[in-house]
Formats: sequence, C-alpha cells, structure tokens
Amino acid sequence: MSFVSCLMPFAIFVFCPETETATTALVLRPANPSYAVEGTNFTLKWNYALDGSLSAVQFSNVTGTGDDPIGSRVGPGTINSKRKYEARFRAQAESTRAELTILAVQLSDEATYKLSVVSSQATFIWDSVRVIVHSPPSNIIISSDQKIKAPALLTLNCATDGKPKPRITWTRLSDNTVITMPLFIISGRNEESYRCTADNGVGKPLSKDVFVDIQVPVRPMVEFTSKVFVGHKQTALLVREVEGNPTPIISWSPCHRKNVCDKQYLTISKVQTARANYSCTARNALGIDSATTVLTIPFEQEIKDE
Ligand SMILES: *[C@@H]1O[C@H](CO)[C@@H](O)[C@H](O)[C@H]1NC(C)=O
Ligand SMILES: *[C@@H]1O[C@H](CO)[C@@H](O)[C@H](O)[C@H]1NC(C)=O
Ligand SMILES: *[C@@H]1O[C@H](CO)[C@@H](O)[C@H](O)[C@H]1NC(C)=O
Repeated sequence: MSFVSCLMPFAIFVFCPETETATTALVLRPANPSYAVEGTNFTLKWNYALDGSLSAVQFSNVTGTGDDPIGSRVGPGTINSKRKYEARFRAQAESTRAELTILAVQLSDEATYKLSVVSSQATFIWDSVRVIVHSPPSNIIISSDQKIKAPALLTLNCATDGKPKPRITWTRLSDNTVITMPLFIISGRNEESYRCTADNGVGKPLSKDVFVDIQVPVRPMVEFTSKVFVGHKQTALLVREVEGNPTPIISWSPCHRKNVCDKQYLTISKVQTARANYSCTARNALGIDSATTVLTIPFEQEIKDE
C-alpha cells in the first residue's frame, strides 16, 4: 500500500473532523511558530494517542501553497527521505510520538513543516508548524580608535548581522553608563573607551570597544629648528613643528607677497641675503608663541658665487 493510497480515504476525513474519535488526538505539539537558531540542530516533537498502531507517517514542507514530502513511511520500518532533504533532515516516528530534526539549521530552513499520521484504524491526524530561524549577532563592524581634540561632537558607529536585527547599546567603560550618540567630548579626561554591545536575545551578545584619545587644549608651541644653511640663489624650505589645541593660526615674518605664510613651512626662493631671520608665530585662544630661524648662506659659498 502506497502512502498516497493510504491517505486517499482520509482526504474526505479532513473535511469531516467531527467524526474523529476521541482516542486519536495530538497530545503535544510544537509551539507555533517555533524558533530555531542558525547553526544548531533543531527538533520538532509531536506526541499523539492513536486508536491502533501507526500505519503511515509523512513529514512535509508546506511553505506557501506547496506540499513537498521530506520523508515518509507506510507500515513499519525507517522513514524514507527525499534526496533533497536527506542530508539535513532526520525524521522518526513511533506509535505515540514523531520527531523531525533539522541539522545545523540554515536561514533558508525557515518554512512551514507538516506532520501527517494515519492509524491502523484509518484515523488521520495532521499538524503544521511554522519554523522561524534566528541567528545570533555576528560580524561586528565598529568605528576605529579615535584621536580627537576636545571639545568635540563624536559619533561612533557600530553594526552587526543577526536575526532579528540586534539592538545596539553603547557603554562608557570608565563609569559603566549607557550613553547615546553623538557624544559631546569635553576636556578634562585624556582618554576614554566606549563599548558597543549588540544583542538580539539569540545566542550570546557581541561587543567591541573603541578607544578615544582626547587631546586637551594646549597653548601654541613652536618648536626649535637649528640654523638653516642654503646655497646662494637656491630655494630654502623652513619647517616648524607647531603644536596647540585648538589648532593655532600660523604666520611667518617676513612674508613676501608670493609666499604662503600661514602653513608650518615657508618656502623662500632664490635666497639672496647672506643672513636673515625668519620668525614663525602661532596663536590660538590660549596664547601665542614664536621662534626664529636664522637662514644663512655659508661664507665660502658667498665668495665663490661672486
Ligand atoms: C546535530 O545532530 C547530528 C546528528 O545527530 C550530530 O552528529 C551533530 O553533532 C549535532 N550537532 C550539534 C551541534 O548538536
Ligand atoms: C520549502 O518549500 C519552499 C516552497 O517550495 C521552498 O522555497 C523552500 O526552499 C523549502 N524549504 C526547504 C528547507 O527546503
Ligand atoms: C636675528 O635675530 C638675532 C636675535 O634675535 C639678532 O641678534 C640678529 O641681529 C638678527 N639678525 C638679523 C639679520 O636681523
């Protein structure tokens, strides 16, 4: 007897459920919907009471309008699985219980699964369950470590995969408080770490930290350079290390019209004067600093060129 011919009389039965006897019933069925976690084995379990022995059983994928058999058997023995499902599904059924296991659940296993059971007294039971596949947070992508000048507004970003979409929370590690973006970074601290935690209630939450280096306000400082020697009519490049927060405004003196005089460097083309002082001044809200560079054409060269 094939499964189909066995089920045929009960197709009518489905339309007349009141004729079902009290002795044939589902005792326990999976929650509907049921939630499976990606990567883990997931088993749907049914318990039933039959008026007789188990005559036929079938598990199928009834997503949408289809009814695609996963595995079935008529009479005793093992369940024959369809090749398509064989590798990743395990099915078993006895006179009181049936189980369908999905091995290493994938997101594509989200489907509606149906159990059909026929007793030796030709009574038919069926149940269908929607399986929703969830996945824990994974692949966290977060802003890189930051170096900023206070005060500043800072927005740190954090994103992960996961189903349902993980909720992102930020914590300031120094006092363990939950914070929201953007951050208003004020001076007073030199560094701070922020932790992004992604949680969707599935598996373990995922977290990653961002280190923020806060550069506090600094009075301008123009670092020393020693004397600069160049050849006659050559081009000289003067470079100064300038520090300060906020970034200082730079000016060079003397400044000739053609020159760029507001950068950390000054280019002097065709040096003529044997000895000249060039001073670099840096100023910001906190103060002012300057330093002088002596530009010299070495004596011997001066002679030679003349
Ligand atoms: C899932 O079930 C298979 C077959 O029973 C077993 O080999 C495997 O170890 C199980 N995997 C997990 C994660 O439990
Ligand atoms: C179940 O059937 C649907 C509709 O035919 C199909 O899209 C889906 O891939 C099937 N599920 C599995 C796990 O094969
Ligand atoms: C350069 O500056 C020094 C010291 O500030 C000063 O003694 C010298 O006369 C200056 N040289 C020129 C060419 O202005």
